Amino acid sequence: MIIKQVEDANVRHSADAANVEDALDAGNYRQAVIDSKSATDVAMRNTLLTPRFYTTDFDALDAIDVSPVREEWDRLIARMQSDPNKGHFKKNDDWDDIDWDGMDPELRAEFTDFLISSCTAEFSGCVLYKEMKRRGTNKDITTLFQLMARDEARHAGFINDALREAGISVNLSFLTEKKKYTYFQPKFIFYATYLSEKIGYARYITIFRHLQKNPEHRFHPIFKWFEEWCNDEFGHGEAFALLMKTDPKLTSGINAYWIKFFLTAVYATMFIRDHQRPVFHKALGVDPDWFARSVFIKCSEISKQVFPLTLDIDNPRWVKNLRALQRANADLAKAKESGDFLKKLSSQARAGLAFVSLLTIPSIRNEVPAKTRLEPAY
Ligand SMILES: [Fe+2]
Ligand SMILES: [Fe+2]
Repeated sequence: MIIKQVEDANVRHSADAANVEDALDAGNYRQAVIDSKSATDVAMRNTLLTPRFYTTDFDALDAIDVSPVREEWDRLIARMQSDPNKGHFKKNDDWDDIDWDGMDPELRAEFTDFLISSCTAEFSGCVLYKEMKRRGTNKDITTLFQLMARDEARHAGFINDALREAGISVNLSFLTEKKKYTYFQPKFIFYATYLSEKIGYARYITIFRHLQKNPEHRFHPIFKWFEEWCNDEFGHGEAFALLMKTDPKLTSGINAYWIKFFLTAVYATMFIRDHQRPVFHKALGVDPDWFARSVFIKCSEISKQVFPLTLDIDNPRWVKNLRALQRANADLAKAKESGDFLKKLSSQARAGLAFVSLLTIPSIRNEVPAKTRLEPAY
């Protein structure tokens, strides 16, 4: 009965689906519902550092008029509609066999954690974009969100394929129903999502280029797919840049402080999370400090297309307080485990202090160019 259901799917694999509905109905998604186990519990975790699901004021989003950026908008949509990555996100002859059982247990744990959190993040984008498409009536907006939801469904489906080989998979329809949704007003969705798309691009392209030069560190075939993958994310980020460009208020006045807050929070979260996976980074032959800096540089350079400021990552207080935040966070995790209430409080206070200290580093002003569109050039 279950096998029959998988066979009945309209599309066998999400990579070949033309839209998000077909992608989520594809055979590999139906399979994930059947064999999901503990990975779903991991994906359900809600902490400051784990990927979240978002909801927003969909009517306000639907009311956006893209006329001020029409020319760039139409070009971007046309490119996404041409769908250069259709059929790409599935295993082919380039997919090498992986000996999951023979993998160093620590690496296996960190790598699965990486895959599960990436899969959750991809799917969180898919759910948000699909919901916007479903609720909207504005053709420009619904077209964009349908295209982005399609891409994210393919990405999440592909990561789940990789996880399934390790005997685990994330039940994504369960997450859609049960995971807690965080409400953000549209401007905060723009800042957070724009940054997550662009930092996603910067992360994936940095790993891809590094492994091109050092193929002996490519311990899993999924990294071979990162180039086309990050080009999708780059395009999604372009869309949010254009959306922000429709209203200058979104990137000026008090909102400049919000932008600084989001930049700091997103960069700091990445720094902490990556430093929690030392074995994974060692296997990739990547020093997490070097990686963080390379990604921050790329992301800051790209975000000059729309943000009126960049963070001063060369300020000596930057790395110093990132490290303080990371240590406080590690102590907090230990205190929670041991139930030490005082240690928990003091770790939280230290983390708060380090974050405020990061926020008070003067930022670097940026003159935003008239034309927004960038190409993925890294
Ligand atoms: Fe994605
Ligand atoms: Fe994306």
